[in-house]
Amino acid sequence: MTTETEFYPVPAEWAAKAHMDRAGYEAARVAAQAAPDAFWAEAAKRLDWVKAPTKIKDVSFAKDDFHIHWFADGVLNVAYNCIDRHLAERADQTAIIFEGDDPSVSGAITYAELHAQVCRMANVLKNLGVRKGDRVTIYLPMIPAAAVAMLACARIGAIHSVVFGGFSPDSIAGRIEDCGSTVVITADEGLRAGKRIPLKANVDEALTKVSVDKVLVIAHTGADVPIVEGRDVRFEEAVKTVADDCPCEPMNAEDPLFILYTSGSTGKPKGVMHTTGGYLFWASYTHELVFDYRPGEVFWCTADVGWVTGHSYVVYGALANAATTLMFEGVPNYPDNGRFWSVVDKHQVEIFYTAPTALRALMRDGDAPVKRSSRKSLRLLGSVGEPINPEAWRWYHEVVGEGRLPIVDTWWQTETGGILVSPLPGATDLKPGSATKPLPGVELELVDADGKVLEGPNSGNLVITDSWPGQMRGVWGDDQRFFDTYFSAYPGKYFTGDGCRRDEDGYYWITGRVDDVINVSGHRMGTAEVESALVLHDDVAEAAVVGFPHDIKGQGIYAFVTLNAGVTPSDELRKALIAQVRHEIGPIAAPDAIQFAPGLPKTRSGKIMRRILRKIAENDLGSLGDTSTLADPGVVEDLVKNRVG
Ligand code: WT7
Repeated sequence: MTTETEFYPVPAEWAAKAHMDRAGYEAARVAAQAAPDAFWAEAAKRLDWVKAPTKIKDVSFAKDDFHIHWFADGVLNVAYNCIDRHLAERADQTAIIFEGDDPSVSGAITYAELHAQVCRMANVLKNLGVRKGDRVTIYLPMIPAAAVAMLACARIGAIHSVVFGGFSPDSIAGRIEDCGSTVVITADEGLRAGKRIPLKANVDEALTKVSVDKVLVIAHTGADVPIVEGRDVRFEEAVKTVADDCPCEPMNAEDPLFILYTSGSTGKPKGVMHTTGGYLFWASYTHELVFDYRPGEVFWCTADVGWVTGHSYVVYGALANAATTLMFEGVPNYPDNGRFWSVVDKHQVEIFYTAPTALRALMRDGDAPVKRSSRKSLRLLGSVGEPINPEAWRWYHEVVGEGRLPIVDTWWQTETGGILVSPLPGATDLKPGSATKPLPGVELELVDADGKVLEGPNSGNLVITDSWPGQMRGVWGDDQRFFDTYFSAYPGKYFTGDGCRRDEDGYYWITGRVDDVINVSGHRMGTAEVESALVLHDDVAEAAVVGFPHDIKGQGIYAFVTLNAGVTPSDELRKALIAQVRHEIGPIAAPDAIQFAPGLPKTRSGKIMRRILRKIAENDLGSLGDTSTLADPGVVEDLVKNRVG
């Protein structure tokens, strides 16, 4: 049976009860297309506005008139929408459940407590001199304080830049410098699988390269960390003298809410900028539709807040919808590989959203760790971050979901703010491995390399022909890069960077990145970034990095490295290079394979032919293609002979 014809129809009770059934979905798609202003104006009433927008959609992707504005005269505050407006009815409802790395550590925060904590943190930030429009870098573990810090920034109109706790001091420094943060919020340490992550020490090292006014240090493990006089402030001290209330700053819908750095095919990671109104609307609208969410249900998205998935579905979309959202500091296989499922039972999780890489790793350990749990509380499963292979999909469905739970495979990107392509559990028949169909208001096309539109069942590059409210508004500090990266390849269209197939039923199957971006365990890594880290080593003359299929990670990182004349390849050097990349970027960027190569395949004009390197890394040696245009066809032979892995 091919997966393209393998259907899992919408269960009858879902069609009857869901927020959106098939007819509702078709009607919404037509309405969003026919009269976008009326459709989105109505939909945007889900938010509480200080001033409701009268201007709705004002967009042009054309080069000479390029602009993207949504709800442009609307005024609102994100923290108000995520907390204050729920207080009248839900002050005592749990807003955040915390599950620590150590299974004996957990807790809960009600909406009333969240309100007080966010207000206090906001007042502390104000006392540190943070004002509307200032940038604040957040480098924290997956603890409620991370959500509190984000919401505190939103409350006073500061723009946050969350840096994933797995990134290195150099990466932190680069991000602080790029957006000009004046304050960093961090913790003494984080915990991961019983190991301590030296967050404050990493910030200290980053701040030898770039400076900020203040570092706010939250006590998490209680470790004794050095405090730099005049710069560092202990949160527990600073909070003693502030009020429990802090007014919400009225923000224009198009004021920036946050910057989040993500890797592209060239250069350093770019600061993806999202705004207040369109982003919050999209996070909340998609959270309700895709997860068929009802206020008070226990929602667990396993992503770290250092990634966009954590921004949109652990924090903003979930809390805007009065959710009980679960924050988990640990990992799926600590203290044992049944952890996810014991947490589901412990906190009676109803909706569970994770990445295929985690499922593949758990699947390898068999069904027993899953079967030890009841999972009766679950009613919906979700997947995000990379294509889910049909085997992993079926395991998720049969073993985790016992055949009774729909799976929403959600395709989106840091740039899109929220989900764009996904089944709706009450409207869409499922096919294992397909993200199925676009949400209302999302207009997709497949194009070939020349931009020719491909009709019907076909494969090509995935583009989006019109804007949606959650679309990113810019690359921080580089308007030109925003246009060039996304709107120049196919004029008038947003290019996703993904390849995609559309089948006979109009279902979309994302096939992966077609640019020089690698998707490692659902995280984006630019090949150019890894190459830059490698060539910093004194012994390295040149490096070329490509992705290759990896059973667990989806894609692994394969590096071809040419050493300086006279340097002998060795395992020590290989280890040193891996250490170098971990140090420059972080552990997630560590190459899975390093091949020492006396020469790289280049065209006569000196361009590295990555197509050939990809084939070698993939061990697809029968189809290396035409190598006759190479400056020295002999290098390929050597590369094939000395392939590693
Ligand atoms: C890239 C975006 C989406 C938030 C987390 C990752 C890949 C994402 C899927 C999916 C196939 C997917 C794409 C996309 N991707 N979700 N359901 N099926 N591929 O955000 O780091 O910005 O990465 O992740 O290649 O372009 P990101």
